[in-house]
Amino acid sequence: MLLRVGCVCKKGHRFLLRAFSCGVAMAKSKFEYVRNFETDDTCLRNCYIVVRLDGRNFHKFSEQHGFVKPNDERALALMARSAGCVMEQLDDVCVAYGQSDEFSFVFKRSTNWFKRRASKLMTHVASQFSSSFVFFWGEYFTHQPLLYPPSFDGRVVLYPSNHNLRDYLSWRQADCHINNQYNTVFWALVQKGGLSTTQAEERLKGTVAADKNEILFSEFNINYNEEPQLYRKGSTLIWDTTEEVTTKKVKPPNQSEREVHKTRIRRKITTHHCDVIGNQFWEEHPDILESD
Ligand code: GTP
Ligand code: MG
Repeated sequence: MLLRVGCVCKKGHRFLLRAFSCGVAMAKSKFEYVRNFETDDTCLRNCYIVVRLDGRNFHKFSEQHGFVKPNDERALALMARSAGCVMEQLDDVCVAYGQSDEFSFVFKRSTNWFKRRASKLMTHVASQFSSSFVFFWGEYFTHQPLLYPPSFDGRVVLYPSNHNLRDYLSWRQADCHINNQYNTVFWALVQKGGLSTTQAEERLKGTVAADKNEILFSEFNINYNEEPQLYRKGSTLIWDTTEEVTTKKVKPPNQSEREVHKTRIRRKITTHHCDVIGNQFWEEHPDILESD
């Protein structure tokens, strides 16, 4: 028997459903109550929403895919490319920062994307990032096939002030510096100094930043401050606006042909490998943050 039932879809919109037997689809089923088990994860208003992704077990993943130690330019570029894809798809991300196998995405504090639902924001970011990482893999790792599907975990953190948000990004960049400095000396001792990994670990026990720089300089002629900014500072992606002028020839009736210039403001993502701890970057890009 054909029934026409007024029904609602997943999002609560009404629509007409054709059902071919009684009892198959009802406007409100007795099962509907389970929806109330869902928890409300709306992010507090006015806060920056930060989604941080981190590669799962990338210690092993990097070994198995022959990443250069301590920094693999291809891997870092692929991470930044995937982050750019996330920003293009979710353009309320005002800044993204990445280093090693992690990337943080900052949604502007006034965003209303996915009604500010944490799980929606986080899963969209994680899936867009992961699929982009796989999609673009071959462009960066031209001679290294992807051996298995990588994955990234995600978390959501809210920051209520510009000060807190800047401290968050500073924390990630300081982490990048500390890890990179350690890894640079560690792998110099192993690859150039002929030490085993255990010996290199022993050698670095109890050393401070200045000691590490001294080992690099005196033993390997490496000035840490001249190492690529990409490795020392990580990657910061922001939106930049550029003016694009196009010229078109038009010929109005009874007039001679003339050129018309049209100016369009285009948004495009730019990648920076600079300090984000000091004030300079924020003064040069005052549009990233909204006022407190
Ligand atoms: P979980 O995140 O807890 O799953 O573990 P993990 O193995 O991913 O470790 P973690 O996220 O703490 O650290 C990232 C790891 O990725 C580093 O310790 C490195 O082993 C590896 N890695 C990231 N970037 C590079 C790179 O450019 N070159 C190399 N050789 N390894 C990298
Ligand atoms: Mg990881």
